[in-house]
Amino acid sequence: MKQEDLFKNIVSHCKEYGFIFPSSEIYDGLSAVYDYGQMGVELKNNIKQYWWKSMVQYNENIVGLDSAIFMHPTVWKASGHVDAFNDPLIDNKDSKKRYRADVLIEDHIAKIEEKIAKEVEKARTRFGDAFDESQFVTTNERVIKHQNEIDEIKHRMNTALEANDLPAIKQLIVDLGIVCPISGSRNWTDVRQFNLMFSTQVGSVNEDSSTIYLRPETAQGIFINFLNVQKSGRMKVPFGIAQIGKAFRNEIIARQFIFRMREFEQMEMQFFVRPGTELEWFKHWKETRLNWHLALGMGKENYRFHDHEKLAHYANAATDIEFKFPFGFKEIEGIHSRTDFDLSAHQKFSGKKLQYYDYELNESYTPYVIETSIGLDRMFLSVISNSYKEETLEDGSERVVLSLPPALSPIKAAILPLTKKDGLPEKARKVMDMLKMDYMCQYDEKDAIGKRYRRQDAIGTPFCITVDYQTLEDDTVTIRERDTMAQERINISELSDIINAKIRL
Ligand code: GAP
Repeated sequence: MKQEDLFKNIVSHCKEYGFIFPSSEIYDGLSAVYDYGQMGVELKNNIKQYWWKSMVQYNENIVGLDSAIFMHPTVWKASGHVDAFNDPLIDNKDSKKRYRADVLIEDHIAKIEEKIAKEVEKARTRFGDAFDESQFVTTNERVIKHQNEIDEIKHRMNTALEANDLPAIKQLIVDLGIVCPISGSRNWTDVRQFNLMFSTQVGSVNEDSSTIYLRPETAQGIFINFLNVQKSGRMKVPFGIAQIGKAFRNEIIARQFIFRMREFEQMEMQFFVRPGTELEWFKHWKETRLNWHLALGMGKENYRFHDHEKLAHYANAATDIEFKFPFGFKEIEGIHSRTDFDLSAHQKFSGKKLQYYDYELNESYTPYVIETSIGLDRMFLSVISNSYKEETLEDGSERVVLSLPPALSPIKAAILPLTKKDGLPEKARKVMDMLKMDYMCQYDEKDAIGKRYRRQDAIGTPFCITVDYQTLEDDTVTIRERDTMAQERINISELSDIINAKIRL
C-alpha cells in the first residue's frame, strides 16, 4: 500500500475508534485543531505518564511545574519571540494560497532526496547481499550530483534565513523553479515575515487592557520560575524542571494531521548546569532521550538524529530526534544547549537577579541550560502510525490491529462473557470489578466473540479475557494476546501478574 493511502487509513481509524476528531466538526471543522476522543485521551495520558515518570519520578534532581499559559507580555520580549518568532511567508498570486517559503524549499529538497533513495534501492536490488550503501552513496556519480545540489540549496537557504535576507529566499524559490502545488504557476509575491504568536487582550475596558500572548512554548514558564523552584525546593545545580502543557502557534501551513497544529501540547524539561559543563550534559540528554524512545520497542531504524548545522544565536549545540512518520523522517523532539540566554535575558528585562550561589565553587553564576522538548501530539502520532497494521490472517479474513506498546494502550484488558445468559455476565462482571481498580478495562457482551476480539484489536487492547461455562466450574478463563492471537487457559487469580508483566516498561 502507498504510504499516502496508509496515512489516510490511519486518520480515519483514529476517528472511527474515538482517538481523534476534527475540532468543531459540526461547524465544518477548524483548521489545524483537533480533539482527542475517549480512546485518544487515555493514550495521551499514558504517554504523559511515561514521560513524567522517566523525568520526575526516576530522577531525584528533576521536579515538576505547572505554570500558567498567560504570562507577563515582557516575557516574550525578553525571550525574543516578539521580535523573532517568525515564519517567512510567500503567496502564490494565482491560487491565492499562502506558503512557508522555507517549507517550499525543503519540499523541493525532499524530492531530490527521493531521487537518491530510488538510486539506492535500484542498486540494492542489482547487487543483493553484496550491496554496501555507504560506499554506494559516496561513489555513485548521480547520487553525488544530487547530494551536491541539496548541499548548495541548504547552504543558500540557511545563509538567507540567518541574515533575514527575504529577497534572497524569494530568489532561491525562483531559481529552483518551484511551482505552486495548486495553480502550478511561478507567480509569487515577495517573501515577508509573519509572527506566530496568538495575542489577546486582558482587562475589561479598552483603556485598561493590554496585549498578552498565548504561550508558544512551555519553556518560558520554567525560566521565569527558576528561582522560585530552586529556592523553595532547595535544588542544587545540576537540576531540572519539567512541565507538560499546551502551546499555541499560528501555523500557516496546517497539514499532516496532528503533526503541525495551532494548539498542541509540549513536554519540556530545562536542565540547569554549571557553565562549561553544558556540552557534556547535552551529550547525556541526547543519549537518554533516544533511549527513552527506543524503550517503547518501535524499532531502532525508525529514529535518527539530525544535528543542527545552523544554530540559533543563543545555542551552542542542538539536535532533533527524527521519527519515520508515514510521510518521512520528521522532528519529534528537540534537544538544545541554550547557554544562559534565557535566564540572562529575563534578568535584564525584569531587573531581578536570576543567579545561583554554588557552595562548592563558592561563587554565583547564571546557570547554563540543556532543554529537551518533545511534542506530545507528535509522540502520539508516532505511536499510532507505527502500531497501525492491516493484516490478512491464515483463514483469509482481515483485521486491523493497533500493536501499541502495552504500557500505552488505552484499555489494558477486555472482559468478555461468551454468552449473555446462564450466569456468565455476572461472573464476568466480578472479574471486571476485580481488575478495574488497577487498570482501564472494558466490559463487552454484544456480538459474537470474534467481532468483539476485532473491536479490541482495533483499539490496541493487549488482552481479551473470556469468561465461559468452564469458568463457572473452576474459576479459569481464557486470555488472548493481541499480537499473536494466542489463547491460554489460566486461573483468574493469575490475571494480575500476567497483565502487570506485559504493561511494565
Ligand atoms: N522550547 C523549545 C521549542 O519549543 P520547538 O522545536 O519549536 O522547540 C519543540 O518545539 C517540539 O514541539 C517539536 O519537536 C515538536 O515535537 C513540537 N511542536 C512544535 N510545533 C508544533 C506544532 N505546531 N504542532 C505540534 N507539535 C509541535
